[in-house]
Amino acid sequence: MQARNPRIVFQDALPHWAPNTAFAQIVNAGSLIIPAVEIFLNKVMARALSEVAAPATRRDIEIFMSQEGNHYRYHRLFNKTMWARYPELRAFDAELTAEYEAMLKTRSLRDCAAYCEGFESLGLIQAEFFFGHVDDLLKGADARVVRLWQWHLAEEFEHRSVCFDVHRQLGGDYLSRVRGFALAARHLGQWGKRVSDHLIACDTAALDAASRARLNAEERTYRRRLLRFSLPRILAILSPAYDPGGKAAPRGSIRLLESLTAS
Ligand SMILES: [Fe+2]
Ligand SMILES: [Fe+2]
Repeated sequence: MQARNPRIVFQDALPHWAPNTAFAQIVNAGSLIIPAVEIFLNKVMARALSEVAAPATRRDIEIFMSQEGNHYRYHRLFNKTMWARYPELRAFDAELTAEYEAMLKTRSLRDCAAYCEGFESLGLIQAEFFFGHVDDLLKGADARVVRLWQWHLAEEFEHRSVCFDVHRQLGGDYLSRVRGFALAARHLGQWGKRVSDHLIACDTAALDAASRARLNAEERTYRRRLLRFSLPRILAILSPAYDPGGKAAPRGSIRLLESLTAS
């Protein structure tokens, strides 16, 4: 496990980086909320360092924090290109950041770690989906944005056990993990929907009726597809036997990380 630098420049990366606009904007909504989420993860893990004694887990936490730090910094570079086109997005980011600050003040470290593990387990579904199940949607897409997500999701897979282990070492049990997952899934789901609704509403406002109907249909189809893919995997996360360590690497993710390490 190591932190890598993908060296991507985004100055002119466009919001509609894939031919399917609804897909691009729903993925963009994920990018837009990531800095607030991953800054929260790193604050929780920094606190966990003072509670966790196992040397291997402490080392893992440090690498995890370096990886997440790189992730949110790169997403922020991309997000700046989005903020320039959709100025209201800044207020969303500030609101979400304030919600995480409140969580840090009002919830126990163990509950915050359970939320983090919830986010991480959802990230594994995204990794499997993005590497293996959206080839058709990535045809003709901007290679920089594809690379951003491949790098990020491959490292998410690589550090998949860190929050799971930390939560357990903080005394977290199955119920605590499932509560954290439910909270993270609801919270992140609502935020992702709110931000993507805003982006798509801004886009449709400039379209004629036929193009608007096409975009709305594209959005419904994509959301159904993502839901169908995610539901059985969410059920697996809810099993008491769930352990991210035993999962198979998403197709091509190890090769992608090797290419970044070598460059
Ligand atoms: Fe990340
Ligand atoms: Fe992560």
